[in-house]
Amino acid sequence: SVVFTDVANLNASLDGQQVTVRARVHTTRKKGKLAFAVLRDNTDSVQAMAAAGDDTPKELVDFIGQIPCESIVDVVAVVSKVEAPITSTSQTDVELKILKIHVVSEALRVLPYTIEDAARREDAEGIKINFDTRLACRWMDLRSQAANAIFKIQSRVGQYFREFLIDQDFTEIHSPKMISTASEGGAGVFKLGYFGRDAYLAQSPQLYKQMAVQGDLKRVFEVGPVFRAENSNTHRHLTEFVGLDMEMAINEHYYEVLDVAEALFGFMFVKLLKHTKELEAIRAQYTFEDLVFQVTPETIAELGIGIIDENVPSTDEYLARIHNRERRMIRIPYAKCIALLNTILENKLEETEDINTANEKLLGTLIKKRYGVDWFISDRFPSACRPFYTMPCPDDERFTNSYDMFIRGEEISSGAQRIHDPELLLARAKSLNVDLTPIKDYVDSFRLGAWPHGGFGVGLERVAMLYLGLSNIRYASLFPRDPQRITP
Ligand code: 4AD
Repeated sequence: SVVFTDVANLNASLDGQQVTVRARVHTTRKKGKLAFAVLRDNTDSVQAMAAAGDDTPKELVDFIGQIPCESIVDVVAVVSKVEAPITSTSQTDVELKILKIHVVSEALRVLPYTIEDAARREDAEGIKINFDTRLACRWMDLRSQAANAIFKIQSRVGQYFREFLIDQDFTEIHSPKMISTASEGGAGVFKLGYFGRDAYLAQSPQLYKQMAVQGDLKRVFEVGPVFRAENSNTHRHLTEFVGLDMEMAINEHYYEVLDVAEALFGFMFVKLLKHTKELEAIRAQYTFEDLVFQVTPETIAELGIGIIDENVPSTDEYLARIHNRERRMIRIPYAKCIALLNTILENKLEETEDINTANEKLLGTLIKKRYGVDWFISDRFPSACRPFYTMPCPDDERFTNSYDMFIRGEEISSGAQRIHDPELLLARAKSLNVDLTPIKDYVDSFRLGAWPHGGFGVGLERVAMLYLGLSNIRYASLFPRDPQRITP
């Protein structure tokens, strides 16, 4: 059997050796008796050539010249060290002298758009291919280095989320996605036919992760699809996204949940910094500033918080530092956020009023200016803005034991302590006009002795979008689903 050599492994030490390489044809060019092809394999590329002469028939040169770009080929060639570096390819010190070439899979001669179109910088001059056109042929779009790298980073987010939580004794669960009622209450739920009955696509694993805690799993997490039938046509809403959810029993205070959230994100962000090759590839197309999560000494002085350093400590160490308040991200009570906003807003907000998207962005800017960070947590949200299952603050019912986490002024995660007293849950639902009859089972799950508990949910695409400073969540969704798009 033939041994294939990857493009990435071609280098001057193979000078004079015969190799077989499978790659994509990036470009071809014919000039008289010469044919050149750049062969590409993901981020690696090499120049290959053939010169008609004694051992090389003219037919080979002609054949190479007409292979459509993006075709997959097998090339048998001799590696040849070059004098001057070839700067247009990743393998700068060698080229291939083609002996044989076989087209494994031929691409269309006319492509819907070129890889250069897909890779064009957002701020580039000239005609740009519209993102919708790119998405319509996503398998082509993904071949650009930046798009490819975005999904490598996204995969790492999932990996670090799992790694951290498993290390902290969390159990991964898989809750049903076809359920009998809305999980987050209200509208925004996709309806299904289910053998003559109605069923719905889960808006989150919320109710099920709570019931899993009551099944004595106690610390659980899930990575899975989440469906939202909201007709939100924005840069940050999808109708299907990947939910990263966790739920845990708590002892004294819902800050135990926040501590885990904070340590988990700190861990993920610092780990992500190490993927410089991918980050640079993304930055080359989508300019973004590094996320600032290092807190300045002035901020520590004002808020009594610490710094997450760039050496990734063990997850236990992270948690210990946070518990000891040596390491702490900025946590700002909701009321203080309102006060901050009111320093510049003309129409002043009430303490119990919702902060809309525009004001969230503004708040992000204010906090960046004042405390120097892109990442912060706001807690004690007003009851009216939170779902029915959220625990009210024991000292003031108008507020809840809940938080949102923001990056660059946009929500990345929301979480809270949940109500574990069935009577309080019923009373709360009633005051919010939520009918709990269809989820009687959920309410009953707290009647057999219930652990006090809390948790949070994060959107995977939101993490990738905001960490990478992308202007649209669709860049971070493999095949985005939004109100306008359900193909490909
Ligand atoms: O804020 P959400 O709706 O909260 C819940 O689902 C709760 N059950 C979570 C909890 O445990 N309390 O969604 C959680 C996160 C948001 O912070 C956001 O990152 C993401 O999911 N998200 C979306 N991402 C993309 N498109 C949408 N339409 C999203 N809606 C929420």
